[in-house]
Amino acid sequence: MAVTINPRRTPLIAGNWKMNLDHLQAIAFVQKLAWNLKDAGHDFTAVEAAVFPPFTDLRSVQTLISADKLQLAYGAQDVSEHDSGAYTGEISGAFLSQLECRYVIIGHSERRTLHGESDAVVAAKVAAAIKHNLSPIICVGETAEDLETHGPSAVPVAQLRAALAGVSNAADIVVAYEPVWAIGSGQAATPEQAEQVAAALRAVLSETLGQDVAGKTRILYGGSVKGSNIAGFMREPNVDGALVGGASLDIAEFSSIVRYQKHVAL
Ligand code: PGA
Repeated sequence: MAVTINPRRTPLIAGNWKMNLDHLQAIAFVQKLAWNLKDAGHDFTAVEAAVFPPFTDLRSVQTLISADKLQLAYGAQDVSEHDSGAYTGEISGAFLSQLECRYVIIGHSERRTLHGESDAVVAAKVAAAIKHNLSPIICVGETAEDLETHGPSAVPVAQLRAALAGVSNAADIVVAYEPVWAIGSGQAATPEQAEQVAAALRAVLSETLGQDVAGKTRILYGGSVKGSNIAGFMREPNVDGALVGGASLDIAEFSSIVRYQKHVAL
């Protein structure tokens, strides 16, 4: 079956580095990744590639990308719900915007679980990102227990509804469906499972932000994505890209994911 690309939604392959690579390593990595993709003749307008380094790397990545005119996008892994003030350790969306970040990941399951981020905090962060002209990548996903108790889409649907509480229909957002049981486990969802939830999430977008926005919004799948399984996800009509963790730290593997249209017989 051919990969169907919705002309209204440019596929996005986003590499979430988590707490890996310092700023010196980031410079070398981004340079090599950009060369690797360029050498392979990657068309950055056909499939967008983005990296999400730790905060301390962002200035270096910005300088490199702008000086060398690299076609990679980048963003942060989190943002404060506040603009400025006495919030020790927090990073304002205004600062990320100054660093020309295009995106910010919000509500990753590791933030929700390890840092106790509630749906209300996620919604406030989404609103803060939009206020500062950052495109939020809103992460939603169910645990293995949720899956057993509530079925596949109930939890992600409820999380997305909550996250969109303060969003107007003009916002440029991305949604990432990441089943918690698939993150870092090596056990990805099947393309059919991802499509089922992505379709339910698109219905939420349509209901809350209107059909036009829902038709333009990219929905990513995340959880144990690799070069060998990406094409299966990209064949699904409601999956418009991937949020990649572990495999985004390996240049050859990440480029092969970005170049999924070329390396797999379609
Ligand atoms: P993984 O992580 O690709 O290592 O499973 C995905 C994520 O956490 O975004």
